[in-house]
Amino acid sequence: MWRAGSWMAWLGSILQAPPRALGRSFSCAQDALRRTPLYDLHLAHGGKMVEFAGWNLPVQYRDSHISSHLHTRRHCSLFDVSHMLQTKILGCDRVRLMESLVVGDIAELRPNQGTLSLFTNEAGGIVDDLIVTNTSEGHLYVVSNAGCRDKDLALMQAKVRELQNVGSDVDLEVVDNALLALQGPTAAQVLQAGVSDNLGKLPFMSSAVMEVFGVPDCRVTRCGYTGEDGVEISVPAAEAVRLAKALLDNPEVKLAGLAARDSLRLEAGLCLYGNDIDEHTTPVEGSLSWTLGKRRRAAMDFPGAEVIVPQLKGKVQRRRVGLICEGPPMRAHSPILSTEGTVIGTVTSGCPSPSLKKNVAMGYVSSQYSRPGTSVLVEVRRKQQVAVVSKMPFLPTSYYTLK
Ligand SMILES: *[C@@H]1O[C@H](CO)[C@@H](O)[C@H](O)[C@H]1NC(C)=O
Repeated sequence: MWRAGSWMAWLGSILQAPPRALGRSFSCAQDALRRTPLYDLHLAHGGKMVEFAGWNLPVQYRDSHISSHLHTRRHCSLFDVSHMLQTKILGCDRVRLMESLVVGDIAELRPNQGTLSLFTNEAGGIVDDLIVTNTSEGHLYVVSNAGCRDKDLALMQAKVRELQNVGSDVDLEVVDNALLALQGPTAAQVLQAGVSDNLGKLPFMSSAVMEVFGVPDCRVTRCGYTGEDGVEISVPAAEAVRLAKALLDNPEVKLAGLAARDSLRLEAGLCLYGNDIDEHTTPVEGSLSWTLGKRRRAAMDFPGAEVIVPQLKGKVQRRRVGLICEGPPMRAHSPILSTEGTVIGTVTSGCPSPSLKKNVAMGYVSSQYSRPGTSVLVEVRRKQQVAVVSKMPFLPTSYYTLK
């Protein structure tokens, strides 16, 4: 039986602390949480605020998490992702700086094209996942995870100083903009009413600066984390509420919170950093080998290449896989066993899939069990149940590409 209930338990696993509604009596710790420019708007729309990566963010609004999730799949939703770290890498040596930290081919990015990439360490572990865009304004625009803000900034700033010390032309600036994600099949149609650029010419992972509903200097990037078509809009903080309200004026658009964001990204097979990938996972183990640029593999010139490149020939002990089961939902930390009862891995995220009406999860298993269709056992609440290794994404994605 698929159960929509008890998602608070699952949500606890994605939040750093158990979710707690923030009442009137703020403790000192809660006072210290950072607020996005949309904080008051969230409260006005009934946002239930929780702590996430040091920020005060809505986990859901008045609608249930399930209806918010399904609204995103059928119409479109507005997510406040202003907590994410936005940076600009400037100077003639910006590509060299970025390539010294990530696994991707940044030099091949066309003007205004972006890519998902990974910061790695010398041991081959993933320090964070990020989007890098080669803007036509002459800088690299980088978006990385809020939970990794301090270490990402330290990593990039140290490399900036190192390169500056040998005379390179490179610099870093934190972008204090808000970031709004508009996601769903009608997102482009909603946005088109407020821009003069033709969004039909803005394919998945491309980016442009434009005026949006009268707000100048917005960077619109065709990307997101739901598997749907959509955009992320980097907007000057002072104009964020005006832009959010203009988008919400369209009845297609509803606000959606962290709970819907998590089940949407899981259905789309996308990793949550800290759960599904971390510094102890390599890109190959994490089934993210596609992020390793061809030229970069040959040159072996990214951090951890000596560990990662040999793994591409199939020599890893464990891999990230998708899992589908019925019965009680699989959760992070649920043990995975072979049908003979040997422990072969662990679930890293799981939830009831509102779209499939089955339970979906991702986790790591010994490589010999990673083929789609393999039956395994997952232990949930001390009971073992059958799960099947599945291809990801669990649902077809609908990213917008040019014909
Ligand atoms: C990035 O975009 C610029 C235009 O700003 C272009 O000249 C350049 O060739 C592109 N690629 C790289 C790696 O800079």
